[in-house]
Amino acid sequence: MNVSIGELKQMGREIHRLEQISALLGWDQETYMPVKAIGDRAEQQSLIQGIIHSKITDSGLGKVLNSLGADLESLDVKGDYSDTDRALIRHIARMYKKAVKLPKDLVERTAREESISQARWIDARRNSDFSIFAPHLKIILDLKRETADLLGYDDERYDALLDDYEPWMKTREIVEVFSKFQKELKEFIEKIKSSNTSIDDSFLYRDYDIEKQEAFGKEILNSMGYDFSRGRLDVSAHPFTTSLGYDDTRITTRYKKNNFKTGIFGIIHECGHGLYELGFPDKIRGTLLADGTSMGIHESQSRMWENIIGRSRSFWKTFFPKLKGYFPEALKGVSLDEFHRAVNAVLPSLIRVEADEVTYNMHIIIRFNLERRLLNEKLTVDELPEAWNHEYGTYLGIEPENDSEGVLQDIHWSGGMIGYFPTYTLGNLYAAQFYNTLKKEIPGLEAELEKGNLKIVLDWLREKIHRHGSVYSASDLCRMVTGESVNPGYFMSYLDNKYRHIYDL
Ligand code: CO
Repeated sequence: MNVSIGELKQMGREIHRLEQISALLGWDQETYMPVKAIGDRAEQQSLIQGIIHSKITDSGLGKVLNSLGADLESLDVKGDYSDTDRALIRHIARMYKKAVKLPKDLVERTAREESISQARWIDARRNSDFSIFAPHLKIILDLKRETADLLGYDDERYDALLDDYEPWMKTREIVEVFSKFQKELKEFIEKIKSSNTSIDDSFLYRDYDIEKQEAFGKEILNSMGYDFSRGRLDVSAHPFTTSLGYDDTRITTRYKKNNFKTGIFGIIHECGHGLYELGFPDKIRGTLLADGTSMGIHESQSRMWENIIGRSRSFWKTFFPKLKGYFPEALKGVSLDEFHRAVNAVLPSLIRVEADEVTYNMHIIIRFNLERRLLNEKLTVDELPEAWNHEYGTYLGIEPENDSEGVLQDIHWSGGMIGYFPTYTLGNLYAAQFYNTLKKEIPGLEAELEKGNLKIVLDWLREKIHRHGSVYSASDLCRMVTGESVNPGYFMSYLDNKYRHIYDL
């Protein structure tokens, strides 16, 4: 059989197009879909996931991969290929290898249940009643255990699921990285707690008209280089970014009238994801490589923009006067320094997405520990709310008063995304490590940021990260950009440098 890589590209493109259609169904469900359409939507998602599964597991695809030199066991690719072509063959071989292990019926059931479960989660969260969601979480966990066992794993079930979000990474590597800096982080939080500097951030909770927040958010999006002719901004219960095409990457946020940070930092965060998705070059456009290489790398983009850039004094030098123009009342008498300190105030809190960047990783460690125990049947769904509260007491010294600000706050488990959470912390670590290189490679960066020149950052990210899409694995990319593999030391020294000034440590 003599096949060309062109045939593989064509087969891959059809899979990618179907995934985009599924993403459109998901985007609509989260933004504008009428509540009662959930039954229709679940069937539609189930159907399309079944079709995608059939395409990926088609024996014709297996033969094409074989004849192109892919070893479906080791995932090595023999032959004289460019990096990009080799990566594409390997990428599709990896998809194929995983998909053929899963029966179509399981894929369809999972898609249907995830859709329904997500709707029930919204309901449960609104009523702050875990019992509405609990039966669905049980089903999701059963489905995920079944999936993990069919996929197979080296050490524990979690490996099989983590691999969907952070390809090639093993649970034990996460445990190693986390345990390395968990202790340092805890000590750092204590250090801030015992600082004599107290930060007044009360003005962030004054009256911030939502329409004005949106207008200001769009101004920031334009400065960051987000292209509204290839995307849009909407509102959803949980902020997200999704690609519905190569020229269609949409972001969402949620606004709170009495909390300035929620809407705006949500926008900056999602824009970071969006810029990555919109930054894939022609060379990989139209292929499955036009995608983030891992969720950790994806999150490094959003967190770098949200925190390292978006909460820096340099950034607000330009944007704070503009912000004051929108909200003269709320920000009356507030100086740039006071504002900068306020948006960086560190305080253990209950809601992950609103946490400061220091305590944030504790929220992730808690979720990682809990979902691993759930998956390994060391913890039952009925015990989960109590275990959640207990972990918050242990790691952050606070406990939620109800399910909605506790165990029900995140969408992930309802959408079947078990194994996803650690990628957030990996993202923080990658972001600090990338930024360390960026600073060295762009002299005068701070002065440029102070002038509102964000393009200089985007250009660097395009060149070093976005351009490659999924051609290189996260760990290879990290080494290419920074010269070493993921190292939490960069994150800790970033925190140290920044908060030394903010809390006069
Ligand atoms: Co994100």
